[in-house]
Amino acid sequence: MRGNQTQGIHGEWSNALVFVLAAVGSAVGLGNIWKFPYMAGENGGGAFVLVYLLCIAVIGLPILVAEITLGRRARCSPIHAFRNLAAQSGASPGWRYIGWLGVFTGFVILSFYSVVGGWAIAYTLRAGQGLFSGIAADEAGALFGGLLGSPPEMIAWHTLFMAAILVIVARGVHSGLERAVTFLMPALFVLLAMLVGYAMAIGDFDRAVTFLFRPDWSALNAEGVLQALGHAFFTLSLGIGCMLTYGAYLPARASILGTAVVIGITDTVVALFAGLAIFPVVFVAPGVEAGAGPGLLFQTLPYAFGQMPAGHLFGFLFFLLVTFAAVTSGISLVEPATAYLVERRGWGRWRACGLLCLGIWLLGLGTVFSFNRWADFTPLAFVGALADRNVFELLDGLTSGLLLPIGGFGIAIFAGWFAAREVLAEELRTGSWRFVVWRWAVRVVSPVAVALILLHGLGVI
Ligand code: PFF
Repeated sequence: MRGNQTQGIHGEWSNALVFVLAAVGSAVGLGNIWKFPYMAGENGGGAFVLVYLLCIAVIGLPILVAEITLGRRARCSPIHAFRNLAAQSGASPGWRYIGWLGVFTGFVILSFYSVVGGWAIAYTLRAGQGLFSGIAADEAGALFGGLLGSPPEMIAWHTLFMAAILVIVARGVHSGLERAVTFLMPALFVLLAMLVGYAMAIGDFDRAVTFLFRPDWSALNAEGVLQALGHAFFTLSLGIGCMLTYGAYLPARASILGTAVVIGITDTVVALFAGLAIFPVVFVAPGVEAGAGPGLLFQTLPYAFGQMPAGHLFGFLFFLLVTFAAVTSGISLVEPATAYLVERRGWGRWRACGLLCLGIWLLGLGTVFSFNRWADFTPLAFVGALADRNVFELLDGLTSGLLLPIGGFGIAIFAGWFAAREVLAEELRTGSWRFVVWRWAVRVVSPVAVALILLHGLGVI
């Protein structure tokens, strides 16, 4: 059977543009707006940015193409996709465990992603109430500390975030996911453009441009290079079958290579623009610096906005942007598992997604308590390198440092060495040099680079 002629049971995107919006929605998230700017800040700016761009182009894009291609061919959730494609290609049915791993990883990531997404909702409302206007730096710190110190409050925001994810995903590909991304993504682009415009008008834009684009190689060490590599992975939502699942809903006519390049470029541009919206504001606020670490977004920035004219309004718009970005990524984290349960059990989407969201919500409580009651609870105290990590740090480190790279490695190896060449060529509709370049990238370049991230995550290098 030619997989690319049939629609799967979940339906498909109305057109290629909707797919691009959904995939960009998955890619653009807390990784772009929260993690990327502070990582760039800590690693000397421009040099880190260059390495990151290289990683996106050389490692990320080939794996992105692989995921979309496998998904569109199989037209189903990652677990069944690997099982079916392995059977078609004469490979071991054991490949389905790569699908299982992805579904599990998405479950775990969403459990803490939702807690941070909840902070973004809380901050949107606080900014809207004008709570940041004119606050001092230590007050901004106390405000964030107050949120982190209150489990009931954090649980409420986490619940709200998960409820939004459930309502969108349960409605299905067409009426849920597609509707959400066609509204949220254009809104996100407009908000980002407004924020960059504001930063240009009010902040120290030149200094931010220099900071982000002039490489200071002395500030980048091997650790920074590996961080850039790992982040390229996280930011493109690779390694867990999200893009594979979204690819399963891609109409047969659409060009995979073309859409993958657009997704990669848009995700990168959004990360850079997020930097250009944040750093100019940060640079003019007295007494703060770029390398503020993870607190950059929820501590430094509210203070910085609080000092600016119209900072009240733009602070609100900024956190609205973060919320939208987190929601459109959150939905892609639970879609593969939802699709699997629908396929496997014949359940309706509400039942499948409801059950998953409940489980994710429960696991999320571990992250909530990691910032207060369980801050010093280290479940793996007996494992050397993990001894001092609390629940949140374990889940975050385990997924980004280990599970995502393992999944990505498996996907690259499967697409490069095991999936039938003709099947891939037919799906990509190109037998030209571009196909050959892509194939060697997933065969050799991406797996080697990913193996490096993995070994680094394991502390071997
Ligand atoms: N790409 C998202 C971000 O940058 O925030 C996070 C993410 C979403 C990672 C989906 C992995 C994933 F499968």
